[in-house]
Amino acid sequence: MLGDGCPSLAAELGSHACLPRLLPSPPCPVLLQAIAGRRAMARRRELLLALMVCVAAMAATGADAADARKMVGVYELKKGDFSVKVTNWGARLMSVVFPDSKGNLADVVLGRDTIAEYVNDTSYYFGPITGRIAQRVARGRFVLDGKVYHMYRNDGRNTIHGGGRGFSRSIWTVTEYVGGGDAPSITFYYRSFDGEQGLPGNVDAYVTYRMPAPYTLALHMNATALDKATPVNFLLHAYWNLGGHGSGDVLGHALRLHASRYAVLDEELLPSSGRIEPVAGTPLDFRTPTAIGARIRRVMGGGRIVGYDANYIVDGEGMRPVAHARDAKSGRAMELWANQPTMQLYTGNRLNHTAGKDGKVYNQYGGFCLETMGYVDAVNHPEFPSQTLRPGQVYRHDMVFKFSF
Ligand SMILES: *[C@@H]1O[C@H](CO)[C@@H](O)[C@H](O)[C@H]1NC(C)=O
Ligand SMILES: *[C@@H]1O[C@H](CO)[C@@H](O)[C@H](O)[C@H]1NC(C)=O
Ligand SMILES: *[C@@H]1O[C@H](CO)[C@@H](O)[C@H](O)[C@H]1NC(C)=O
Repeated sequence: MLGDGCPSLAAELGSHACLPRLLPSPPCPVLLQAIAGRRAMARRRELLLALMVCVAAMAATGADAADARKMVGVYELKKGDFSVKVTNWGARLMSVVFPDSKGNLADVVLGRDTIAEYVNDTSYYFGPITGRIAQRVARGRFVLDGKVYHMYRNDGRNTIHGGGRGFSRSIWTVTEYVGGGDAPSITFYYRSFDGEQGLPGNVDAYVTYRMPAPYTLALHMNATALDKATPVNFLLHAYWNLGGHGSGDVLGHALRLHASRYAVLDEELLPSSGRIEPVAGTPLDFRTPTAIGARIRRVMGGGRIVGYDANYIVDGEGMRPVAHARDAKSGRAMELWANQPTMQLYTGNRLNHTAGKDGKVYNQYGGFCLETMGYVDAVNHPEFPSQTLRPGQVYRHDMVFKFSF
């Protein structure tokens, strides 16, 4: 079932040209058998994806199921009128749909219509899990156990979200998928290899999306270092807009953060000084519910860009409330619990006439990200809690989103 103009098996060309025709919209499950070519286009560092066969609406049974696990697909989890779509291209969250106070359904996650567009997009990170080291690593360099490591640098002179081909640009294997019933759930697995983007050792990574209760989405991520010590730090880079994606900006959303301190970031958004300061008396203080836009003009999110791109130290330890956001217009609200020490708040400062799903266009502040994670650039800051995983050790990151209306 090769689409017209589709490259043949041997085509290692990664021509994105044929992708849109293969994937007009994400039916469920739409499956594409894909091979990831890893020929980065010298300067643009784009991953070339060679697609082989497109199999629409494939029943995942028997031999087909084995094949399906290695394909790029879109999977739905559904519990009543609460539904979520994910893809194994970057273990990515593509949509979250639930009602507002009048019963109108909306998708509150920003994204793209097709896998091809996600592949093409190297700047916004719509919805993926990023790693092996999320956020920035200064100069893409660190020393671990006396050895110097150089990572692929994809953010000026620094590295962001694991490098040019981090977890967000990898094909994960679906190890388990139950779309409906009491506890819909899907698990993605990725073997991150020794030397990947300059990082040491093989790592087994898992991401599970689950609906344990109505209007509740739980994520469990874990990683095991198999043979060498390595820094590990994952995050979910979903952009939220509780009014519905593409419905305008989120400046009116009331946000509450359980964070009384933050890591001071420099112009390159690195915690170069290592300073942790109180939010009290600054525009970063969201300890009581405050509109995202109330003080945003006073915040520089790196360089000359106005907006939040701030790293909060979450109060307390273990699984605990991190954030609460509410859109008064729709009545939709979202509460986030997590077990991570920090959270990056990003307000979509760089969205700029950006093409989104359903023909929508995303502009500045069109969505916000609540990225729970370890300390940014911990590998270069011995004063921060370590994110280094020793062989046999397990990293665990849990997030729970409770939606209401
Ligand atoms: C990929 O990006 C290029 C350049 O921005 C654009 O012209 C093309 O239409 C995009 N393709 C898809 C599938 O989004
Ligand atoms: C990691 O997560 C997967 C999927 O949820 C689970 O099967 C596995 O037991 C977990 N591994 C560890 C070491 O906790
Ligand atoms: C948005 O794009 C326009 C035109 O390319 C540019 O002038 C402007 O600076 C951009 N704004 C942001 C916030 O990046």
